[in-house]
Amino acid sequence: MHEIHERSDDHGLFLAQLQALIEDEPDFLANMANTASLIYHTFSELNWAGFYLMKENELVLGPFMGKPACTRIKLENGVCGKAARTREVQNIADVHTFEGHIACDSASNSELVVPMVKNNELIGVLDLDSVAFSRFSPLDQKTMIQAVSIILSK
Ligand code: SME
Repeated sequence: MHEIHERSDDHGLFLAQLQALIEDEPDFLANMANTASLIYHTFSELNWAGFYLMKENELVLGPFMGKPACTRIKLENGVCGKAARTREVQNIADVHTFEGHIACDSASNSELVVPMVKNNELIGVLDLDSVAFSRFSPLDQKTMIQAVSIILSK
């Protein structure tokens, strides 16, 4: 088992910055791009942060920060596919134990995926990857759910 250590990332400040960053901008693509960057630069030990968007029943790569990633994920595949299929947050402490995990970057050890649901429709997912095992605490999970809700409220 890997222990979860609460980090000193400032969640309140992050959410306030996100709100301010997207406040005056109605464009969803621009807002996702800035959100990916803000997450990547705010939270420690991340090697990827970004979005996959539902298109013709597949997840297609959207704005992100990190190394190039797979462009299309079928709903039956990977952690992202499971989050999209079940519409439930996936907080995976060790991706190597997750059957079907898609290793875009072999450095990834843990992953957090938050489904984005608007008006009962699955729009896509927010995906965070970390080089650390058990990177994502219940607070990280809550904060990313709030981040998704902020960008979907536009
Ligand atoms: N690991 C993900 C694929 C996307 S990359 O991590 C950016 C998955 O298993 O769905």
